[in-house]
Amino acid sequence: MAPRVFVTFPLPPVAATLLRRAARVQTYRGPQPIPRSRLLAGVRDADGLLCLLTERVDSTLLSRAPRLRAVANYAVGYNNIDLAAAATRNVVVTNTPDVLTETSADLAFALMLAAARRVVEGDRLVRSGRWDGWRPDQLLGHDVHGATLGIVGLGRIGAAVARRARGFGMRILYWNRRRLRRAAAGARYTSLPRLLAAADFVTIHVPLAAATRHLIGAPELAHMKRTAILVNTSRGPVVDEVALVRALARRRIAAAGLDVFEDEPHVPAALRALPNVVLTPHVGSATTATRAAMAALAVRNLTAALAGREPPNLVAPATTEAGSPPRGRRAKV
Ligand code: DGY
Repeated sequence: MAPRVFVTFPLPPVAATLLRRAARVQTYRGPQPIPRSRLLAGVRDADGLLCLLTERVDSTLLSRAPRLRAVANYAVGYNNIDLAAAATRNVVVTNTPDVLTETSADLAFALMLAAARRVVEGDRLVRSGRWDGWRPDQLLGHDVHGATLGIVGLGRIGAAVARRARGFGMRILYWNRRRLRRAAAGARYTSLPRLLAAADFVTIHVPLAAATRHLIGAPELAHMKRTAILVNTSRGPVVDEVALVRALARRRIAAAGLDVFEDEPHVPAALRALPNVVLTPHVGSATTATRAAMAALAVRNLTAALAGREPPNLVAPATTEAGSPPRGRRAKV
């Protein structure tokens, strides 16, 4: 008998067809994000779950899903999943790296350019009908070309941003928990405080984990240049939002470009009111092609795991009967 799979959102057609070939599929079709109660009901008989980064897969959910063997997250980040609880229950977890790398780097770069060149302020001025013509001092911004870029987290997306920065003639610094043997695009390793002090642009590409929560807070913002611009397209809680609002309001740093927020979809009014921040609604991977590729990859991961094969993107292997994790490739984040 084909396994039962619960999907929390309508998949693009190609991915949906692929999944239906391998499983009996039940899909939640919105229009709003799935309510928690509906999610808990949906996993009750499911062997597999294909879910979004906004859905919490925790011990409560896992305890309501006695048959569950695999969770395929439709995202590269998987901070919504309690990996320890999944391992305890022998549930395989997968994510969707690689297919969204370049698309996500495009958005980080777009936010850098938009914040530096005040694109949104300019758009508002023109739309308001109050633009009174060219002026030498109008909407003066910051050069991106030739500036120093600090990349916090030189993983795949950080490296893709570095490659773009090279085309803009930028000097590239990076900080990682571990120094890389060979860094992308000639990026130079430096400590986080030095990076923050030297960079004209700081862009964040670390996953959210206990060690990275509020990695950028008031002391780190105080290390940055007053002319610096902060971009965050990773996860909101990596930056202390209260401290960032204060730094932007007091012009402790010049501007920010944010695609992610601490408590999505809530964005504090104080942040929304600031003119020197560009805000986008967590759309780093939002192109038609990339979202289709993410869906297809999530389906491949899920069907492989349910068939007992190693999925292409294993984050957390289920524990073996002896209680230790089987050998497997390391998760890509
Ligand atoms: C991810 O995949 O983690 C992204 O945040 C989705 O855009």
